[in-house]
This record gives sequence, structure tokens and C-alpha cells, in this order.
Amino acid sequence: MSSIHLLFTNPISPSTKLHRSVNIRNGGGLTIPSGNGRVTASADVDVRVGPGLLSQKVIEDDKRVMVGTYARAPVVFVSGKGCKLYDAEGREYLDMTSGIAVNALGHGDPDWVQAVTEQAGRLTHVSNLFHTIPQVELAERLIARSFADRVFFTNSGTEANEAAIKFARKFQRFLRPDGKKPPTKFISFSNCFHGRTMGALALTSKEHYRSPFEPVMPGVTFLEYGDAHAATELINSGNIAAVFVEPIQGEGGIYSAKKEFLQSLRTACDDAGSLLVYDEVQCGLGRTGYLWAHEAYGIFPDIMTLAKPLAGGLPIGTVLVTERVAAAIDSGDHGSTFAGGPLVCNAAIAVLDKISKSSFLADVSEKGLYFKQLLTQTLRGNSRVKEVRGLGLIIGIELDVSASTFVDACRHSGLLVLTAGKGNVVRLVPPLVISKQELNLAADIMLKCLPVLDDGN
Ligand SMILES: Cc1ncc(COP(=O)(O)O)c(C=O)c1O
Repeated sequence: MSSIHLLFTNPISPSTKLHRSVNIRNGGGLTIPSGNGRVTASADVDVRVGPGLLSQKVIEDDKRVMVGTYARAPVVFVSGKGCKLYDAEGREYLDMTSGIAVNALGHGDPDWVQAVTEQAGRLTHVSNLFHTIPQVELAERLIARSFADRVFFTNSGTEANEAAIKFARKFQRFLRPDGKKPPTKFISFSNCFHGRTMGALALTSKEHYRSPFEPVMPGVTFLEYGDAHAATELINSGNIAAVFVEPIQGEGGIYSAKKEFLQSLRTACDDAGSLLVYDEVQCGLGRTGYLWAHEAYGIFPDIMTLAKPLAGGLPIGTVLVTERVAAAIDSGDHGSTFAGGPLVCNAAIAVLDKISKSSFLADVSEKGLYFKQLLTQTLRGNSRVKEVRGLGLIIGIELDVSASTFVDACRHSGLLVLTAGKGNVVRLVPPLVISKQELNLAADIMLKCLPVLDDGN
């Protein structure tokens, strides 16, 4: 028998709150008519509080008006501060998702808000027909802090990879002015994710993302992530324009590359004249405790794509390239109406300036180590947990069953986590500013929610 504390919020009047303590049996179900709502608890940690009236209306309207591409959780968020999100009924959630690895500074960071509001009042958009100051200043910062010599802006991760595909093809053609057939093919790897537009989708390993839309871009070979031998052999064929690889795979299940693997790709690409493209859309920009995930390996790419966290929640993507690659790209080869606008770039400057401080990165590393150890200790002994892995604050907990009931139970208990891989990996990508106290709370809630994995599995 356990005791839990329930906080009821009246959906009509969110400021009206009712506190109740109840005793319930582990695994037993009960229904508590509260007078203000109806709450069902089916286990000691699984307190199912259905959406309130306002949320219900939004969810119903969403189902009526939106194209049904998303399987959303039944929550309507209305505000956020730091690592906390608040739903339409005023309930608080600890956010370990960061909007899928986006809100690295949390919600409503004051410097970010200032950068956005000041720039919005000054100039939001003029298109790439003209120069703007924030775009150049952001590009200069990215170059100063990376391997790259030049930058191209897009609006998302998939667009950044789309641009990288075009740049790789153009690079290979540019090297053969005699009209000799350039290599046009690509390599990517098992469990990879590069995006949803036709080129990036072609590079993405999950078959069921691709098959309804075939034919996607031809010429992509998927190899086993980590299979340096197969990759070297195929690159040596001379047909490969570029190899796309995530130094740490996010969507695929939080798998880190081995140094020898990236080194073999680098060597083979250099020997054969192929380009090495790192997709750091999810793992880049401080998430690993390094500014760029590949810095952990000391092996550098020809092209790197970035997106998610760079503008702190505004849409941005970036392709960073060496001078050699940039030399192949002519005026008119690629473009975008919105990309690199002054508003997003000013927001991104605020984010980059904060994250790239060595004290900020050291703090991410320290918290990442602390959290991984805490999770390993806390979850050790649960037969459902196979492995805790990751680097910095991109952490995966591999289970031997689907993680979806666990994710729901965590949400009902006020903790937001994601899945990854084949749905059996719990993905934790909190705001990088999360405190140790919040990490402790997340570990506590996860521990309490683990028993739901034994219900119905
Ligand atoms: C590694 C990686 N590349 C590309 C993408 C696509 O980015 P976006 O959703 O911004 O198009 C993602 C998104 O999850 C990603 O994780």
C-alpha cells in the first residue's frame, strides 16, 4: 500500500486547486470523484488525470482541422519557464524533451527573449536579396568556433541536409570540368535519421518513413552503423559523392560512433575524393558537453549540418562547409526566402554565445555524467532496463519492451520524456540548463513509473 498526494485543478477555474492524499495498492485501480473532476489511478504512480475542458476542446478541434501527421499526446501546453511547462489546466511538467532537443536554454530564457523582442521591433525579414547584420554576425561566430570556412542557412534540419546533398553533388561535378561522370551516390547508416523531405528522406534508414513516398532520391546505400570495412570498400568504388553520418544517433536510439569508425570514414573519403558529412542536427551545439559532438572524437568533416537548438526554438538550419566545398557553389545554386532572417539569426547569436562558453559546456558534461551515473544506479536491478547510454545530456535508456506505456506514465506523473529507436529506448534530451535537483526529480519519477512496464507486457 502506498500513499500519493493528488492535486486537482478545476479546468473551468485553474486557480481553484484541491489537495487530497489517498492510499492505493500497487497495481490496483481506483476512481476518486473529487467534486472538481474525476481522477483514475491504476497503479501507485499512474495517476491518470484526463484533459480538462479547455484542453479537450483544443484536442477535438485539432483532430478536425489538422492533417493527421502527428500522434500527439493529449496535452495542451500554454506556457513554459526554464525546464517547466504548464498545460491549459495549469499542471506543471518537468520537460526532459526540450521540444525534441531544441530548447537548450529552456523556456523563456531572458537573454533569448531580449534578443528576439529587440530584433522583432527592429527588423524581422527582408529575404536573401539583401544583406542583414545578424546573419553575417552569426555566420562569423559559427566559423570562428568550428572547422568551417563558410555557412549556408536553411529553416530546418531536413532542409540543411537537403542543401548538403546538393552541395555534395555540385562539388563532385565542379571537380570534373571535363564533363567526366561525377560520383552521385550516397552512403548512410542503420538507425540514422536525416529528415523528411525527399532527399533527406532517401538517406533516412526507417523503411516505413520512405516506402509510402517512393521513388525517393535514388543512389543511397545503407550500411551498418559502425561497419568501417563495408563503408571503406564502398567509398573506394569511386561512386560515392558523400557519406552522411550522425556522430551520435538521436532518433535511432542514442548510439555513439566509435572513434575508429569515424577515422576510417575520414580516411576512405580522403582517398576516394568523397565528402564526409556530419549530421549534428540533434547531437550538436553543446548537447554532448562539447560544442560539436565530433569534437569528442577529434575527426572533422567537410560539411556539418545543424538545426534544432541553434535559434532557441525558432526555425533555423545551417550547413557549415570548408572553403573547398564552398568554391563549388555558384550564385543561384540554392536558396530560400526565409532562411537566415535577422530575427532567427539574432536569437541564434544569443543561444550560441551562451552555449559556447567553456563554463557552460563543462557544466553540461558534469551534469551528463552525474545523470548517467544516477540513472544507472537508480534503474539497476530492474529487469526491463538493458542499458543506460549517451554522452552529456543526450541519454538513452534501452528497455526490453516498448517504452510507450512508461512515457505515458511519466507524463501523468508530471515528467515529459521521449522514445527513440524501435520505440524501446527512452530518450532524455533536457534543456542544457537543467539543475541537478531537477535531474534528481526526473530519476525519482522514472523509478516510480517503471512498474507500468510489467502491466500488459
Ligand atoms: C539527426 C537529425 N537530422 C535531421 C533531422 C530533421 O530535422 P527537422 O525536423 O528540423 O527537419 C532530425 C530531426 O529529428 C535529426 O534528429
